[in-house]
Amino acid sequence: EQEEEAYREQYHFSNEKGWSNDPNGMVYYNGEWHLFFQYYPDGVNHGPMSWGHAVSKDLVHWAELDIPDTFNAALFPSEDGTRRHFSGSAVYDKDNTSGFFKDGQGGLVAVWTVAGRPAGMSGGGSQRQAIAYSTDGIHWVEPDLGYDRVYVDRDGNIHELTEKQKDYYKNVVLSEYNVPLAVRDAEGNIIGTTSQDPLNNSAFRDPKVFWHEDSKQWIMAVAGGPLRFYSSPDLKTWTAQAMQDDIITECPELYYLPVEGTDEYKYVLSEGGRWYQIGDFKEVDGVWTFVPDTMNGPTGDVPLRLNMNYAPDAYAAQSFYKEDGRVVMVQWMSNWSYADNSTVRQPDGSKVTLEGIRKMLGEKHNGQFTLMADLSVVRTPEGLRLKQTPVAEYDQMKNLEVKDDIVLDDKSNPLEGIHSQQFQFEIEFAPEKGTEKVVLEVLKNKDYQTTIWYDVNTGILHVDRSKSMAAEQAPADHMQNGTWFKFLQDYTAPVAMTNGKIKLKVFVDNYSVEVYAGNDTIVLTELVFPYKDADLLNLYAVGTPVNATYSFATMDSYRKD
Ligand code: FRU
Repeated sequence: EQEEEAYREQYHFSNEKGWSNDPNGMVYYNGEWHLFFQYYPDGVNHGPMSWGHAVSKDLVHWAELDIPDTFNAALFPSEDGTRRHFSGSAVYDKDNTSGFFKDGQGGLVAVWTVAGRPAGMSGGGSQRQAIAYSTDGIHWVEPDLGYDRVYVDRDGNIHELTEKQKDYYKNVVLSEYNVPLAVRDAEGNIIGTTSQDPLNNSAFRDPKVFWHEDSKQWIMAVAGGPLRFYSSPDLKTWTAQAMQDDIITECPELYYLPVEGTDEYKYVLSEGGRWYQIGDFKEVDGVWTFVPDTMNGPTGDVPLRLNMNYAPDAYAAQSFYKEDGRVVMVQWMSNWSYADNSTVRQPDGSKVTLEGIRKMLGEKHNGQFTLMADLSVVRTPEGLRLKQTPVAEYDQMKNLEVKDDIVLDDKSNPLEGIHSQQFQFEIEFAPEKGTEKVVLEVLKNKDYQTTIWYDVNTGILHVDRSKSMAAEQAPADHMQNGTWFKFLQDYTAPVAMTNGKIKLKVFVDNYSVEVYAGNDTIVLTELVFPYKDADLLNLYAVGTPVNATYSFATMDSYRKD
């Protein structure tokens, strides 16, 4: 029996209790999708992190596994808090390149950031990349790799590691700069050190690994601060490739994606799910590097850097490692600016956070994930774009679907009489000369609503949550690219017409609104906190009436199965 909760996603995945942030370790293995995530089970705030775990056969119905019962300590924080588990990825090592598995059998290898400092070490970095392996995706082993590391203190003195420190580092493949590899002479005396991070930057986290078929090796993108690439034949020994310190991001990822309708493939670099660049992954001056396509700007050729989500509640995207080329991505559906009390930073001193809202309501979870989306690249009149299409697997959740052709005017409301906070809506319309806007109001009661509307004259799509709740109850403001935004704000994106038409997909699930436009090249993801009775819809047009085709379906809950 599910407790009645005010705010619980029903067809999106959310952890049963505790805090979650980034999706981690995503991998398809033996017929199941494994979704791990940044997890703190004991509070609705970011805490000493472990990985939570959920599995699914269809990307929609998720079973969350108990942690740590299934986890045998790996990926669970140490009791003294010195080992915390940050974001990372997992791969299917089919050919047993790592040697961790039985001959002829593969298994899973997770590569993630261990954060914190072992006793007796101070200063320098506190983030490094570690690995563990598993044959069932549930039980993980942290191998002892036997790297010869030393500790360099603040004064530059070099120390041998203590047994405890050696144990702490036993499965670390890339360490922070003040725990470099030792260089010894024949007698074993230390004659120097080599840092595994040529940038010696203490922000060194979020490794995402993929198999690079062209060079037949594993490639890791890792950042936190500047982006670095490493390569490896076996997931254990990693060689520095390009260091791209002009790209600063958390949770970097390179997707290898087909350009629809061609034989061509492109690499797409995701900067934490907020921005993306399309380009290639190439060897330049002897190192593998991401080379972005450029566009001609006022300051000359600049990388083509595009918005991956035009609204604030999508972050830390990751895709599943899957062999057949299908790339399915999900994002943490929240924003650090107001997710919990410790990270909230706002200019006006307002203090409402999602943590605060959850506590006030007596709810036990704070964290949810966006819709799963298939990724590809499409050619548009403006150039190549990333396409994010909600996976077709969601169709099975549709219930009571209504489809109709209608003429929308300022009085029409074909959705009148429907009460729903959990639905999927699609519309295609061809604005007439004189059509000013097409408007869909959702999560609506007499005072509040979220308004999705297309402004025909400006070609701008609006997903406006400025009237979604009372101002004094709204979460704090947030900073994006140096600009402050209100929580109660209208978010917008330019959407060009295709053959004189606009097509929108809208997904509402209890307290989230996701809108896809421009052939799924434009995405806006927003959390809203509607009142219980805000379950009405209104669909109309302003100006010259417009022909439209729409469909509306309520969505089932996987959680109640
Ligand atoms: C991004 C992030 C990552 C880090 C993790 C910690 O949201 O800050 O960079 O690994 O969250 O929970």
